[in-house]
Amino acid sequence: MGEGIALSFAAAGLSVRLADQDRHILNNSLTRMGAHLKLLAEFGLLEDTPARVRSRIKTFLSSDPDRAVRGCTFIVECIPEILALKRELFSRLDDCDGGTILSSNTSSFTVSEISRGMRTPGRVVGTHFFMPAHIVPLVEVHRGKDTGNAVVETTRKLMLRIGKKPVLVGKEIPGFIVNRIQAAIAREANYLMEQGVVTPDDFDMAARSSYGFRLASLGPLAQADINGLDTVLRGNTHIYKSLCNATEPSPVIADKVKKGELGLKSGRGYYDYRGKSQEQITEEIERNLLKQLILFREREK
Ligand SMILES: NC(=O)c1ccc[n+]([C@@H]2O[C@H](COP(=O)([O-])OP(=O)(O)OC[C@H]3O[C@@H](n4cnc5c(N)ncnc54)[C@H](O)[C@@H]3O)[C@@H](O)[C@H]2O)c1
Repeated sequence: MGEGIALSFAAAGLSVRLADQDRHILNNSLTRMGAHLKLLAEFGLLEDTPARVRSRIKTFLSSDPDRAVRGCTFIVECIPEILALKRELFSRLDDCDGGTILSSNTSSFTVSEISRGMRTPGRVVGTHFFMPAHIVPLVEVHRGKDTGNAVVETTRKLMLRIGKKPVLVGKEIPGFIVNRIQAAIAREANYLMEQGVVTPDDFDMAARSSYGFRLASLGPLAQADINGLDTVLRGNTHIYKSLCNATEPSPVIADKVKKGELGLKSGRGYYDYRGKSQEQITEEIERNLLKQLILFREREK
């Protein structure tokens, strides 16, 4: 995720420091960023040359955190989704320049959980980007109980400046808005497969060619208005009773993870990716998303 976020800031003309604990990961990220920049330029979505955008990103090893963050005005933490690791990192960041805003790209923890025990929790804020972060417009901005109003407002304005669509999350809640929706869809999808109702291919096709097809231009609440709320209510009343209400993830996904079938990165998940390179698959996906981004920006003008 970090590379896409770094790219979003650099493409908007800002200087970026990309820090990781592993030099090899930093080098691979730079290579992938080169490919992302090439595509952005091809689609006419860069206001600068790829070389100039790339030159604004400097890489740092996180073993020297002081050097990596000195003089930064805004930090986006993007390390694995393990609360203890995030807390440890934020306790180190607690000592950096008081004017620096510390944000987390956490996809499930609340800001209060992450900043607990810090001396300066008032400058911690959540910025939840979506993969691939250099393309998908939304950033959920969420706050903890101690986060300052000015920190939230500066963050929201910064997201607008880098071309994102910030949406403020009104209350602390795990998963915020979108990951709750995604979790609800995933729970039902796995349940339908468990019950033998649908295959992964058919589920994805059904989703993409129906509500997914409409979602990019019409949110689900606006769609409900078009359908007629009385009709929607009747449907909900009937269907809700039979929806999956499991409180633990389905064996369909748990068994795959146990077998090492982790998706694209391991060559197999719900689908089999062997035979095509990750780069080829990513490029194909990004080309489609970039076409959508152009339409989205036209509509949002
Ligand atoms: N993958 C997604 O689709 C996605 C989407 C939205 C949000 N997120 C969130 O973004 C964060 C990162 O997810 P990811 O999928 O990019 O994880 P990842 O494991 O791919 O990348 C994490 C990176 O952090 C580095 N790292 C670990 N500890 C570090 C430390 N102390 N200092 C510096 N670098 C360190 C690792 O070397 C690794 O390169 C998580 O909080 C995740 O929930 C991920």
